[in-house]
Amino acid sequence: MKRVRIAVVGAGAMARSVYLPALAAISEEVILDTVVDIDQVKAEWAKERYGFRRAAAHVSEVREGDVEAALVITPVREGLDAHYEPVMELCRRGIYVLCEKPLTLSRRRLEQMAAQPTLMPIFNRRFTPVYQQARRLFCGESLQCLYAQKSGRGPVTRELLTNSIHILDVMRWMAGEVREVEAMALSEDPKQELALGALLRFASGAVGIFHMSRGAGQWVERLEATGHGRTVCVEAPHLVRWAFEDKVEEYRPDLNRWIMPAEAKFGFTPCLQRFLAWVRGIEPEAGITGPDAAQSYYLADRILRTAGLPGLDE
Ligand SMILES: NC(=O)c1ccc[n+]([C@@H]2O[C@H](COP(=O)([O-])OP(=O)(O)OC[C@H]3O[C@@H](n4cnc5c(N)ncnc54)[C@H](O)[C@@H]3O)[C@@H](O)[C@H]2O)c1
Repeated sequence: MKRVRIAVVGAGAMARSVYLPALAAISEEVILDTVVDIDQVKAEWAKERYGFRRAAAHVSEVREGDVEAALVITPVREGLDAHYEPVMELCRRGIYVLCEKPLTLSRRRLEQMAAQPTLMPIFNRRFTPVYQQARRLFCGESLQCLYAQKSGRGPVTRELLTNSIHILDVMRWMAGEVREVEAMALSEDPKQELALGALLRFASGAVGIFHMSRGAGQWVERLEATGHGRTVCVEAPHLVRWAFEDKVEEYRPDLNRWIMPAEAKFGFTPCLQRFLAWVRGIEPEAGITGPDAAQSYYLADRILRTAGLPGLDE
């Protein structure tokens, strides 16, 4: 197998806990060329620990002759938009880019990024074993109702656009595009939605119910698809249970594994491998395209605005 020469931009928590271990686990597929971080201590640590050829402080130091693909895992939050510059610069030089969510919080920048033909935006839930199984069992026209919940403890600024967007994207991936939106929210700070409920009408006619809370006592990610006498329930990332024709069955991805690392359970490793297959030309297009991913951001924006909250920055 041809190994892909790769750069990693951003050597923070996600790199340390998820992506660098995942890359190390598929070392037969990649050559670790350059690690970039504005914090030289982090870049040097990653170089030494994982054996990158070079450590750099800025993306301009990534050489397109040396690198075919890059992983951008810098931060994006209110007032800090650190995906845009590296993604645009790397794509301009013809380098394939896999970029973490959220791409950006700006509508104008989102449009520019989504139009880059060498960009694959990350929505790792699409590669998560439990959601893959749920979609194999039940998606598209036969789905009549789709309920999704994402809850956690404590407020997060721009929660829907930076975090709960994962599950909105799963809803689109399973049921198709949304035509109508009704939504209500509870928030003290308009950029910190504490609770949000949305009623969605998909183009197929199916009804969607989305609910998020940051006032919860525990982390929950749950999905339930129903229609034509069938139910599929997901308790992410551990369990899918389905009831078809009076028979109930279960799938637990970690049933026979003593330890299943988070990068496998939450779909990061298969997402990375799908990206590499595209870079190598084995797959004709990105596992998720820019225009497809952008639709999930536009849906989040529409829900927020319908609920009377600020959406993407204009
Ligand atoms: N998909 C998921 O489930 C998931 C979960 C958590 C985080 N994330 C995303 O991963 C990304 C990274 O999160 P994190 O927790 O590792 O953040 P972090 O702050 O721990 O790390 C980011 C790193 O990027 C570096 N950096 C900042 N600007 C840079 C620039 N212009 N060039 C090079 N390096 C730069 C920082 O010095 C830092 O080391 C975020 O976009 C976050 O939303 C995704």
